[in-house]
Amino acid sequence: MTFHTPNQPVVFITGASGGFGLLTSLACAEAGYLVVASMRDLSKSENLMEQARKKGVEASIACIRLDVTNQEDIDSAVPEVINRFDAIDVLINNAGYAAGGFTEEVPLEAWREQFETNLFGLIAVTKAVLPHMRKRQDGTIINLSSISGRMALPGLGPYAASKFAVEGFSEALRLEMLPHGVHVVLVEPGSYQTDIWSKGMSDFNVDLESPYSEETETLMKMVSHIAKTADDPEEVTRLIVKVTQENNPNLRYPVGKNVKTMTRLKTLLPWRWLEHMILKKINPRK
Ligand SMILES: NC(=O)c1ccc[n+]([C@@H]2O[C@H](COP(=O)([O-])OP(=O)(O)OC[C@H]3O[C@@H](n4cnc5c(N)ncnc54)[C@H](OP(=O)(O)O)[C@@H]3O)[C@@H](O)[C@H]2O)c1
Repeated sequence: MTFHTPNQPVVFITGASGGFGLLTSLACAEAGYLVVASMRDLSKSENLMEQARKKGVEASIACIRLDVTNQEDIDSAVPEVINRFDAIDVLINNAGYAAGGFTEEVPLEAWREQFETNLFGLIAVTKAVLPHMRKRQDGTIINLSSISGRMALPGLGPYAASKFAVEGFSEALRLEMLPHGVHVVLVEPGSYQTDIWSKGMSDFNVDLESPYSEETETLMKMVSHIAKTADDPEEVTRLIVKVTQENNPNLRYPVGKNVKTMTRLKTLLPWRWLEHMILKKINPRK
């Protein structure tokens, strides 16, 4: 049973079945928001609601079905939320996944699917919410980007390209919507322990016939090491809640080990130095 008290601000989040989405839903509910936690498979809501019950916030979370790549889902979910709860104060575009592989070997269909979710899904949900926020002259839209939206690595082309596109879209939208009282924000995490790593690893197979087999093997080892040593995702969740409470949030919030250093190095160092360093790491023998 979800209760909505008058003046309780409403957060609408995508991809709330696990990872940052689930943790952010809980943290926002604990911070006093009414959370509409959307997910493409509602049978996964039990995990979120179980944790919500333990924290005593289940009355502040409503789950709704939404696959961000399905326009019919969006057309039905967004008006339903606005009708039922009067408002969407904060939209958190979190749903996403990481597709990897070397460009030559990634089917074009996999590139398109990556963009359908990470970019076009995010744009479609945003477009559905924008008229409502513009009319109210109020709202915050938080887009989950990544360090991969600022700096691309070999073998992660589809993911990096989709997140670079999210960055460009968000810069433009920020400038369009600021005059209407709507703040657009990018949260740019480094590596955190969620299921994104195990799901992404399924794209990596070492094919000994492949001209990229050595690089793929090194990348698989790097990703597996990162997955094991990645930070606690609660750090990102806390940051997102903090951003929702800002009256005048920044455009970008980089977060995580070395993320600020990496983005600074990219602007300070000549590109040739950077590429030399990265390539030495990926394939020391070449
Ligand atoms: N973890 C990191 O290190 C990291 C770093 C930087 C940025 N990010 C970004 O953070 C966001 C969340 O990722 P995560 O790390 O929390 O990964 P995760 O644990 O794999 O969670 C991803 C969520 O997105 C959902 N999703 C995927 N495709 C969807 C679709 N078409 N429609 C609706 N929901 C969909 C998944 O639903 P299912 O359960 O149905 O698959 C899941 O709930 C992503 O945008 C990711 O790029 C993560």
